[in-house]
Amino acid sequence: MTLRLIEGGRAAADAPGLLIHGASQIATLAGGIRRGTAQGDLALLEAAEMGGPGASSAPVVACWEGRIVGVGPRDLVEPGLEAGGLPLARFARLDADGGVVTPGLVDPHTHLLFAGSRENELVLRQQGAGYLEILAAGGGILSTVAATRAAGHEELAAHGRRWLEEMLRHGVTTVEAKSGYGLDLQTELRLLEVAHELGREGPVDVVPTYLGAHAVPAEFRARPDGAEAYVRHVIDEQLPGVAAQGRARSCDVFCEQGVFTADQSRRILEAAAGYGLAPRLHADELAPSGGAELAAELGALSADHLHVPSDAGVAALADAAAGEHPTVATLLPATTWFLMEERAAPARRFIEAGVPVALGTDFNPGTSPTASLPLVMTVACLEMRLTPAEALAAVTVNAAHAVGVGDEVGSIEPGKAADLVIWRVSSVDQLPYWVGADLVDTVVKRGRVVFRDAL
Ligand code: NIG
Ligand code: FE
Repeated sequence: MTLRLIEGGRAAADAPGLLIHGASQIATLAGGIRRGTAQGDLALLEAAEMGGPGASSAPVVACWEGRIVGVGPRDLVEPGLEAGGLPLARFARLDADGGVVTPGLVDPHTHLLFAGSRENELVLRQQGAGYLEILAAGGGILSTVAATRAAGHEELAAHGRRWLEEMLRHGVTTVEAKSGYGLDLQTELRLLEVAHELGREGPVDVVPTYLGAHAVPAEFRARPDGAEAYVRHVIDEQLPGVAAQGRARSCDVFCEQGVFTADQSRRILEAAAGYGLAPRLHADELAPSGGAELAAELGALSADHLHVPSDAGVAALADAAAGEHPTVATLLPATTWFLMEERAAPARRFIEAGVPVALGTDFNPGTSPTASLPLVMTVACLEMRLTPAEALAAVTVNAAHAVGVGDEVGSIEPGKAADLVIWRVSSVDQLPYWVGADLVDTVVKRGRVVFRDAL
C-alpha cells in the first residue's frame, strides 16, 4: 500500500466548494456535547433509510470555502445551495464509494513534542518496576526532559511533523498538544512555540497547552521542599512568561500523589486562570488524589485519565455536568493498557452519572506511545465497555469541547469547519471493530483534501 499526502489539498483547490456523496452513513454528531444516554447519539444519516447511497435522496455533505454549508438528503441540500447563491457547478465532487463519513477526529490529550524514546521502561515495568518508582529514580518524565532540553527548535518541529502526519493518517484533524518536557521557562516556551508553528503550517490544527507542572525537575529535587519551590517558580516565573508569549490556550497540572498535590494544583490553575488560561488536569491517574473534585470546583475544561477517581470525585463531576459548561472526563485507555493496569477507568459510571466522556491518545514516550485514536476507540470498547457509537462521540464532539473548540469543530453542522473523514467501512460500528487496521480513505481539512490513501 502506498500512502500519499496531497500537498495543500491541490485536488480540490480550484473549486471553492466540495460535495461529498456516495456515503453509506454520515455521522453528523450535530446537536452539541453528549452526556448520559445521549453519549452514543451520532445524529446519523443512513443511506439505506434514504433510498441507498446513489439515490437522489441519499445523504451528502457540502462545504464552501472551508466551512460546512449543508448536510442531508441530496435533493434538499443541492437546491438549498443554489438558492443560497452557491452554484453547484463550483463544487468539486468526491465519491465516498459506500464508505462512512464522520467529522475529523479531535485528539484532546497529547504530549506531542519531546525528544528521544523510553522503550527501556517497558522492560523495567515488565520486571515489576512501578511508573512513579522509575520517575523517583530520575527516569521516566525526567529522562525525556533531559533529552528535550538538549533538542533544538528544528529537531522538535521535525518530530512533531512526523507524528502529526501519523495522526492525520488515522483521521485526526485537530490535536491538543501539551508542553511539559522542558520544566524551565526557555524550553517550555520553545515547546509551545513549536506547537503553535506546526498548527499554522497545517493541515492539522494544534491547540497548545502549558504543562509546566508535569514533574519537579532535577534541579529542584535536590533542594529541601523542592516541589513547593518549583510550584512557586511555575507561578512566579514561568506563567508570566507563558502568558506574555501568548501561545498556550490552557494550563494543565499533573495532580497526583507524589507529584503535585490538589492544593498546589489549585494554586497553579488559579494563577493561570488570571492570565486567561483555561484549567485542565491530569487527575486521579494512579491514586485518588482529589483531582476530579478540583476539576469540578474550578470548572475545568477537562479532567483527564480519571482511572481511579474517588466516589466524591465522580459525584462532583456529575454535579458540574448538570450545568451548561460541564467538565469533560477525558479518558485515556491506551495509557492504562500500556501501563498493564488490571482495571480500566470507570467509563460507564461517568456515562451513567451524566458526565460527558471524551477519549484521547495521551501520545507520549512513557505511558502511551501511540498516535492512533481509532486504536484508542478499540481499547475503550474492549476495556471500558464503551459502545462504538459512544466511542465515536468521545473522539469528535466531546473531544472538541474538552479542548475548548467545540463551537468550531467536532461535528458536521452548517457553519462549522469542513473537517471530515471518509472511512473505508460500511458502518460506524466497524471503526473500532477492525482492530489496528488503516481504515482512513480520505481526510478533508477546511474543505480541502489533505490526505488520500491510494490503494
Ligand atoms: O499522561 N502522567 C503524566 N504524564 C503522562 C506521561 C508522561 C511520561 O511518562 O512521559 C501521562 O501519562
Ligand atoms: Fe498525559
